Amino acid sequence: MIKVWTDADEAGLLDRFGARGSTFAYQTNTPPLRAVSVTMPVRLPSYNASFGLLPIFEMNLPEGVLRERLRLAFAKATGTFDDFDLLGIVGRSQVGRIRYTGAQEKLQESVPFQSIDEILEKRRGGDLFRYLLDKFASFSGISGVQPKILVRDEGTSVPLNKADHRLSQSYQGATHIVKFWERHEYPQLAANEFFCLKVAEQCGLEVPPCRLAEDALALVIDRFDLRSDGTYYGFEDFCVLNAKRTDQKYGGSYETSIMKRFTQFASTSQVGEGLERLFTLIVINCAIRNGDAHLKNFGIVYDDVQGEARLAPVYDLVTTSVYLPKDSMALTLNGSTNWPTTKELQRLGETRLGGSPTRIREILKRVVDAMETVTAQLRAYIRGHPDFEDVGNRMLAQWEQGMTTSLRP
Ligand SMILES: Nc1ncnc2c1ncn2[C@@H]1O[C@H](COP(=O)(O)OP(=O)(O)OP(=O)(O)O)[C@@H](O)[C@H]1O
Ligand SMILES: [Mg+2]
Repeated sequence: MIKVWTDADEAGLLDRFGARGSTFAYQTNTPPLRAVSVTMPVRLPSYNASFGLLPIFEMNLPEGVLRERLRLAFAKATGTFDDFDLLGIVGRSQVGRIRYTGAQEKLQESVPFQSIDEILEKRRGGDLFRYLLDKFASFSGISGVQPKILVRDEGTSVPLNKADHRLSQSYQGATHIVKFWERHEYPQLAANEFFCLKVAEQCGLEVPPCRLAEDALALVIDRFDLRSDGTYYGFEDFCVLNAKRTDQKYGGSYETSIMKRFTQFASTSQVGEGLERLFTLIVINCAIRNGDAHLKNFGIVYDDVQGEARLAPVYDLVTTSVYLPKDSMALTLNGSTNWPTTKELQRLGETRLGGSPTRIREILKRVVDAMETVTAQLRAYIRGHPDFEDVGNRMLAQWEQGMTTSLRP
């Protein structure tokens, strides 16, 4: 049995159920604002899944290298190793506002310290990743296939006002995400992602501060769900909003599973501006040739599960076609995963955003301008980093193609 906490308060109990499923029930007297998801209001009857975990509980389970690492470390101790076991291991430190403990345990969120500067400056190469993985894997309730961990930066833990006890104690949880890459499979992935995120930033979208390590072996990203008082915002990805399991993250369309779904869950005051930012993000994904923009790579954040939800800041942008030249989109547009033409993006904007033809043309133009600005930065980086030359030049070729076929009139 696992106890589920929201905003550091008890919300309910989760248990295995049936042959391969699970069940969740709110505790009596749980107030509505303790709900675990915008899709699961507080109610008397339990919520059941006949296979695995409900999407909100599965949302932050590690995939890829991190999951395998935890399996090797814990399978012996637990005897089995399924999603339920994994949640029990990484549950105390998660992206967003939900935490998990044993049924009788108190919540203890504290994550060990780790200097971000050390990650950015020290050239420990492959050893740094192994060291960090050993230390932080079991504090890394974060999804995704690429190797990554959650850490707590020492700098961030310094209380702003020493007299304020709450503040000094508040940074118990992780403050940053550190992403690495598989040398052979995805060379230079960190630098690739860094410059793709720059495009979004240049378009005026909200991108959390991120830094590339000197040796480009790691990308360090500030958590966008961390409040200044050390507590966390609610975060839910579009797998959850579409009631899909993680292994269904590639099933959906931009029109319905992303744009329409956003309007259903975002607060009315957010729909106009948020929808325009969402459309801009979709356009960027197409133009930089990101074939991995699946349902888990879009999300919403909120202060209060019953209150205003807004589009989450931008994360996980990569020119994947550098590694997979034949790559196509993760979600469909117009029923197809082919990279869209300018006309198709124009139509998506006019119909789903409801923008005038001129307004949509302006958005496409803004993305072209941003990509041209970042192209100059990327060229400068290539000159100083010969290791990046091959991937960098291939990115530029993909971007040029993306701008020509998907953005330019
Ligand atoms: N800055 C951030 N703050 C808080 N949560 C984040 C942030 N960036 C990413 N996340 C969360 O972490 C998850 C994994 O991050 P990310 O998508 O960058 O990893 P990935 O391994 O590249 O993913 P994929 O499997 O899509 O390739 C995201 O789906 C999101 O839930
Ligand atoms: Mg991702």
